[in-house]
Amino acid sequence: MTLSRQTTTPIQPQFLERMSPRAFVPEALTTAQLEQLVDAARWAPSASNKQPWHFAYALRGDAHWEAFSNIPNEFNRRWCLNAGALIVLLSDKQASAAKHSFDAGCAWGYLALEAHAMGLATHAMGGFSADEAGAVLGLPEHLVPEVVIAVGRRADASTLPEDLREREIASPRKPLEQVLSAGAVAAQV
Ligand SMILES: Cc1cc2nc3c(=O)[nH]c(=O)nc-3n(C[C@H](O)[C@H](O)[C@H](O)COP(=O)(O)O)c2cc1C
Repeated sequence: MTLSRQTTTPIQPQFLERMSPRAFVPEALTTAQLEQLVDAARWAPSASNKQPWHFAYALRGDAHWEAFSNIPNEFNRRWCLNAGALIVLLSDKQASAAKHSFDAGCAWGYLALEAHAMGLATHAMGGFSADEAGAVLGLPEHLVPEVVIAVGRRADASTLPEDLREREIASPRKPLEQVLSAGAVAAQV
């Protein structure tokens, strides 16, 4: 299912193994699983330890699921509605004016790696309606919806519509040398 990723330094395998699939087994996450994911995320570092994040969720089939399923855009709805949970990651610009998005991004990374360690997969989506998120969640102005995160158990790619099947691969990365500078940054970066 997953093309193996390789690299040149002895990093922990989780970094190569984690990927964002679109094929999910349509079964609900448990509240305990959801809480474990967010527990990991909340241990992320943040500027002045402001922890400018909040996680709103619906478990597949619960009372909130239908409303949450209207938040992702049309493309993402084609696959993410099989997920076991949808999480809207909010950042708090009142708590941290300069770094709320940056810190929320770090929390997302922690959540994604905890999910991987639990045998679950995650897929972040920037393709969603902020207006819909605001309406569904009753958001005050200072809470910014950053991403919607689909979480669940991975399914075989064959369960996807044909055009999405071929995209169910572990994506590559730019070479290390290209994102790393000893000292001054080269003009071509
Ligand atoms: C902030 C953010 C927004 C993203 N938005 C979408 C999206 O709307 N739809 C989608 O299918 N994937 C989306 N992705 C997934 C990325 O395309 C994916 O993480 C990237 O291609 C690297 O692949 P990998 O996560 O499998 O390693 C998003 C990822 C991030 C971090």
